Amino acid sequence: MSFVKIKDLKESYNLFKMNAHKDARRYSFSKKKFNFSEHQRWLKQKIKSKKDNLYIFKLNKNTIGYIGEKEKYKKKYLSWAVMPNNKFKGYGTKMLKNFLKKKNQTFYAFVHKKNTPSKKMSLKLGFKIIEMRKNFYYLKYLKS
Ligand SMILES: CC(C)(COP(=O)(O)OP(=O)(O)OC[C@H]1O[C@@H](n2cnc3c(N)ncnc32)[C@H](O)[C@@H]1OP(=O)(O)O)[C@@H](O)C(=O)NCCC(=O)NCCS
Repeated sequence: MSFVKIKDLKESYNLFKMNAHKDARRYSFSKKKFNFSEHQRWLKQKIKSKKDNLYIFKLNKNTIGYIGEKEKYKKKYLSWAVMPNNKFKGYGTKMLKNFLKKKNQTFYAFVHKKNTPSKKMSLKLGFKIIEMRKNFYYLKYLKS
């Protein structure tokens, strides 16, 4: 599996499928629904922003998922999703493992307490719960 930073709108539709999916909305800070053109606007802004990076993961040219990286107060926050038809096959774990190994940085993440696959995946890969904030685990991954 390999990943590249998103620099254009080529993966726009795949990202929309991942982010608009009900599980992604349910476990996100913002439960608001959005249409494709709102999503395009969001993506353009992310591509422009220096504090945001989006990485797309591919296996044999097929899009598997993405990881988003956001910088806030000098800390890097991650979020992730796998294509709806590729969920629960171990791809999420592979994707995040590969990313953490290549980057070797300290990262933070918020995972909804009811999001079992995401919680299991992050704890398994070395994230530690540092705090509970409302319905979210505040997690930290310490670089090796
Ligand atoms: C969260 C997500 C990226 C995980 O990726 P995935 O490829 O589906 O997950 P994996 O197959 O690697 O499985 C991860 C863990 O969840 C567990 N799991 C898989 N399916 C599950 C299910 N239906 N219910 C509960 N746990 C499940 C697996 O057992 C695995 O843990 P284990 O290795 O200890 O057994 C993916 O499900 C997703 O895109 N969800 C929607 C978006 C989202 O929630 N993003 C996270 C925001 S922080």
